[in-house]
Amino acid sequence: MAGDLTLTMHNKEIQLFKNKSLLENFAVEKWMELAESSVDKRGLFTVALSGGTTPLGFYSKLSKHKKDLPWDKTHIFLVDERFVPFDSPDSNYGNIKKTLFEHLKLPSANIHPIPAEEVTPDIGARKYEDDLNIFFDLDGGRLPAFDLIMLGVGIDGHTASLFPGAPFSDEKDRMVVAVNDPAVEPERISMTFPVINNSRTVIFLISGRSKAKVAKHIIHPHDTNLPASRVNPVNGRLIFIIDEAAGEYLK
Ligand code: 6PG
Repeated sequence: MAGDLTLTMHNKEIQLFKNKSLLENFAVEKWMELAESSVDKRGLFTVALSGGTTPLGFYSKLSKHKKDLPWDKTHIFLVDERFVPFDSPDSNYGNIKKTLFEHLKLPSANIHPIPAEEVTPDIGARKYEDDLNIFFDLDGGRLPAFDLIMLGVGIDGHTASLFPGAPFSDEKDRMVVAVNDPAVEPERISMTFPVINNSRTVIFLISGRSKAKVAKHIIHPHDTNLPASRVNPVNGRLIFIIDEAAGEYLK
């Protein structure tokens, strides 16, 4: 079921919904569609999820689909993580585990947390790069091609843990970096734009009036100073699933 308003601007697909529940239902539909086509074509469905509060309702609805999704062939990574213990309320893995993983019989080998309990964020970032290299069987220089990366956006225009003005927003070589910017607490570990933009599909979930301005600035005319504006899949689809409150300036 498409949005109450469907727009396409450049290579961006925008689906506007009356409220957050309809936004979440549509996101579940897109997940089901992508899971089926990815498994049909490649035998696997590889996804990277973001943290934050926006997607939690979506994760919870997804967890109800215990039997009609190929969870045994679905591998879930994280786009970014806070450098806190997994049982911290700030932990993206901890929150996604509570709303999604705990309700599913997902093999533990299919869940790929970012190592946020290492000695330093940089060691954790390099370990995650090793995980990506092994899982995607990457040789030097190749990038992982996720079937789906789910993103949110902060009111400052950050996405993942790539913040305005942060050095790693321009990172071209590393796949995963430690973000130890004094303005960002706690320290983070984040995938970089080369990985995000190599995904077959990227979906932004954006909800609430507080995001209306930033939604406008990352969609059209987009402000390239905002990290979320740097998301532009090289060969993939870019879909914005937005509720009416966040889409106020897009109509
Ligand atoms: C994180 C997320 C981050 C998030 C935005 C929006 O670790 O916090 O990956 O990029 O998507 O900050 O967060 P909300 O959904 O809570 O507004």
